[in-house]
Amino acid sequence: MNPSAFTTPGSGQLILALSKGRIFDDTLPLLRAAGIEVLENPETSRKLILATNDPDVRVIIVRASDVPTYVQYGAADFGVAGKDVLLEHGGEGLYQPIDLNIARCRMSVAVNAGFDYETAVRQGARLRVATKFVQTAREHFARKGVHVDLIKLYGSMELAPLVGLSDAIVDVVSTGSTLRANNLVEVEQIMEISSRLVVNQAALKLKRARLQPILAAFERASQLQA
Ligand code: ATP
Ligand code: PRP
Repeated sequence: MNPSAFTTPGSGQLILALSKGRIFDDTLPLLRAAGIEVLENPETSRKLILATNDPDVRVIIVRASDVPTYVQYGAADFGVAGKDVLLEHGGEGLYQPIDLNIARCRMSVAVNAGFDYETAVRQGARLRVATKFVQTAREHFARKGVHVDLIKLYGSMELAPLVGLSDAIVDVVSTGSTLRANNLVEVEQIMEISSRLVVNQAALKLKRARLQPILAAFERASQLQA
């Protein structure tokens, strides 16, 4: 399908795709820096299209992992997504101009506290790894030359080693409290994660005049957070 098929041609209207929770909350100050106030709260409203104080700008609320898809196909002009999500999506059709320095965490490998990960890796054992982030996990273990069976999950990865579904997980870690609460230990850090602004490539050309000041305000405000 033509990725720009859904882009409203020549329109001054802008649609921003955000997910509820930390991405929405951390993007609000950036929007404010661009003079944009969202008029509804997604935690209390059931609406999926939210108005702002700018009649030309609307916010759509989607799952975090769906943000790149909406932007790729031009159903949203721009969005905010974690590097973890963007690596799984692949980034096709997306321009990624700004690291917003929000929703910062790291992608890590974790195992049961009693599991000797180093020895298992050294001995060339085949590891079962449960994760939502299969591309990232596949590349990480391929680089290390470790053979893995990847088990795709959609959430609560920390449960998998506890009930014998996997030897290890690949998940995002911030404070480490979820791992500690489940008696898991972080044995490897794969990469630092933060959220990026992503822009539909066609919108960047067709709506450049409207997008550019917002992108500039986001960039200035996110540098202050770095
Ligand atoms: P989905 O709804 O698609 O399953 P999700 O539940 O992972 O996604 P969020 O929890 O809102 O969505 O996370 C959004 C982004 O925030 C993630 O893609 C990641 O980049 C980052 N993130 C995830 N967990 C944390 C955390 N504990 N601390 C800081 N940032 C995080
Ligand atoms: C994320 C992630 C971990 C947790 C890590 O879950 O999936 O479970 O954060 O953060 P910590 O190291 O500070 O404990 P989140 O809070 O987003 O819950 P969810 O996956 O149910 O959305």
